[in-house]
Amino acid sequence: MNSQPLITTTEAVDKAFYVIFGISGIALLGITVAMIYFVWRYNRKRQPLPISQKDHNIWLEITWTVIPSLLVLVMFWYGWEGYLSLRRVPDNAIPVQGSARMWSWLFTYENGKTSDKLYVPVGRPVKVKLIAEDVLHSFYVPAFRVKRDCVPGMETYAWFVADRTGSYDLFCAEYCGVAHSKMVTTVEAIPAPEFEAWLQAKPIIADVGKELLQKHGCLGCHSLDGSRMVGPSFQAIGGRQVVVTSNGEKRTLTTDRDYLHKAIIEPGADIVDGYPPSMPSYEGRIPEEDMTGIVDYLMGLKAEGQKVEAKQAEETKEPAESVDPAKPAETATASTDPVSRGKELAEKNGCLGCHSTDGSRRVGPTLKGLMGSERTVVRDGQTVKVPADANYLIKAIREPSAEVVEGYPAAMPPYPGLSDEDIKALQAWLDTLK
Ligand code: CUA
Repeated sequence: MNSQPLITTTEAVDKAFYVIFGISGIALLGITVAMIYFVWRYNRKRQPLPISQKDHNIWLEITWTVIPSLLVLVMFWYGWEGYLSLRRVPDNAIPVQGSARMWSWLFTYENGKTSDKLYVPVGRPVKVKLIAEDVLHSFYVPAFRVKRDCVPGMETYAWFVADRTGSYDLFCAEYCGVAHSKMVTTVEAIPAPEFEAWLQAKPIIADVGKELLQKHGCLGCHSLDGSRMVGPSFQAIGGRQVVVTSNGEKRTLTTDRDYLHKAIIEPGADIVDGYPPSMPSYEGRIPEEDMTGIVDYLMGLKAEGQKVEAKQAEETKEPAESVDPAKPAETATASTDPVSRGKELAEKNGCLGCHSTDGSRRVGPTLKGLMGSERTVVRDGQTVKVPADANYLIKAIREPSAEVVEGYPAAMPPYPGLSDEDIKALQAWLDTLK
């Protein structure tokens, strides 16, 4: 459609922004200077009475009409050009479908590959066809200056080109329900050869059931580790006793294949006690074979000692020791390997909402390279340097406001619920983040 050189969305939007910002700045300055001059010049002391009898000046009037009109037209022109750049997709753009649903993103590539992160090759334009599966969402990537609503029953699109490698935040920018703020992912811009390899690679996740849950967005609201999210956890859901409300009446049932199937197709029929009836129906949204895969997988999630994740089967070292009835269920079935357990804990406790693992700055300092580094902290108003060792970690988690890393707000609440063992597991995982 267009043979002009490629103007990225960032360039197009920034140009319009700087032109408008510049004109506004000059106008602000000019008006302020003129105002101050008039206040001084026509002060009562200098010219107490009006002496001029002129009631108009044609040239003055033309000037103050024409100049502002031109300025406004210039601003309009740059804004319009910028808008057209956002809407005009380069011919060689890679098509990707972006589906928004409560409360996660799913990106589908031409060869059928799916991903919850948007992988793109550096330097190639990407066209994201946007659809909403349930309610309004909005696709927003500040780094590329693109934001487009995803509207149920309508197809919209956005395009952009990443000109260097990196991980860029991708938000949902339209309030879409309780977990709206969790509807965050990233654009991963990687070199083109790496992208090709990624696109062709078969999924590495051995666990097909878990991948299906991810693909259909189930894990946005249901945990696998027993922790409470928007909906009940999937932990040990196979053959579990649940109290549900059906047609206003409470009853207890045992989960079986029919129940699970119905819970997905007709989630409002039996509401699990203590949870809101907020799940949308997935009727017609999950292909039959995926549905069978999901139900098979869920039925396989049994309580106590059964294999919960295929991954864990590789490392069944001391199963007897880790199953301790005195501990809460979530500890009993969680990973036995401290590194993956630490990672799970970090995810479950929301650490990753404020601390990145890739060195980028968020609300709190990054976790990358934390262990063994030297921290500059403020303790009792004094700036001191402390080594980040096991003791430091315990203190930072249990009493985060005692030593606040310099340059960061004292925003973290204490986490007294994490046991010494939990913190050890976290440390084991942190040790891997070099
Ligand atoms: Cu989706 Cu907010």
